[in-house]
Amino acid sequence: MKALLTVLLLALPAFAGAADTATTSAAPAASEPRFSSGWRFEQRSGPALYGALCAACHMPDGRGARGAGSYPALQANPRLAATPYALHMVLNGHRAMPGFGRQLSDEQVAAVLSHVRERFGGLTPEAARVTPAEAAEVRQAAQAGTAVAH
Ligand code: HEC
Repeated sequence: MKALLTVLLLALPAFAGAADTATTSAAPAASEPRFSSGWRFEQRSGPALYGALCAACHMPDGRGARGAGSYPALQANPRLAATPYALHMVLNGHRAMPGFGRQLSDEQVAAVLSHVRERFGGLTPEAARVTPAEAAEVRQAAQAGTAVAH
């Protein structure tokens, strides 16, 4: 048992090293934490949050994927312009899309969605911007069991 533990401990730095190399190419800004600790995500900027939370399923370039499951493309997706719908997806999820409401603050939800809408949704930065207040509104509507109509 003790030997096994030693082996595991020795293997740990190797793992960390491998993960390090794998993430360097798409690494977010140096000021962003590389790993999230605990239950909440620590990344703050839209690009860093997208890379940490969304890219695995929707792909780094937003083109989505088809394989074991179907992950819709965010690139040129007209539904991104529907703010309450897009917020609802990120906060509450739907079918194979996990909801991130419990792990993200309103500011983080607004940041990642603003980024996605500007980068993939074809919107100007002004039109793409989602505010934390809008995120809070959709969050509260879900908690109250009502829908937000805009
Ligand atoms: C575990 C895989 C997974 C992750 C991680 C994920 N998504 Fe999704 N996403 C999906 C799937 C699957 C759907 C389709 C859900 C459905 O069937 O309605 C989806 C749907 C969406 C939609 C609606 C698209 C449409 O055409 O209706 C948006 C917007 C979206 N995701 C944004 C995001 C954002 C932003 C993130 C990161 C915060 C993210 N997703 C993370 C799997 C994922």
